[in-house]
Amino acid sequence: MLKEKVEKALNNQILIEADSSQIYLAMASWAETQGLGGTAQFLYRHSDEERIHMLKLVQYINERGGKAVIPALPKPEKDFKTLNNLFQTLLKHEIMVSDKINDLVEVCLKEKDYTTQNFLQWYVAEQTEEEALAKTIIDKLNMIGSDKSGLYMFDRDIETISVQSNTVTPK
Ligand code: FEO
Repeated sequence: MLKEKVEKALNNQILIEADSSQIYLAMASWAETQGLGGTAQFLYRHSDEERIHMLKLVQYINERGGKAVIPALPKPEKDFKTLNNLFQTLLKHEIMVSDKINDLVEVCLKEKDYTTQNFLQWYVAEQTEEEALAKTIIDKLNMIGSDKSGLYMFDRDIETISVQSNTVTPK
């Protein structure tokens, strides 16, 4: 049975993961309207991944005798101005998510809920990979600068990159 504090903290993480999915969906749609089809596909997949992160939490809470709360979501930003700005926003968001996961682990340790703490290790590993991937993408974009052919190749290559755990390298 989940302790109240753990259940509350896990439910808060449902909101964060669902919000991430929504934000990346908005980013994907923006990229698509800019003619960046590869980037759009990458972001659509990222959005799907975040939904899976949310689902895992929903199911975990319910399996452990708690009640998952499906939250309302704020409207995401819709104009990201430049690709670099978009990925800077994404990285900042992921750093915030990592902090929240760490807070959640802290709650579990305080409450001596080692089962949930163990369950969360998957999220800890996932965050490390997501942050590293976002940083790599920003480095690439900085190298490309305003070079149009570089941007064309970036958009082509990013289509095959997966954000899923342990598959940071191209498929
Ligand atoms: Fe599930 Fe990227 O946070």
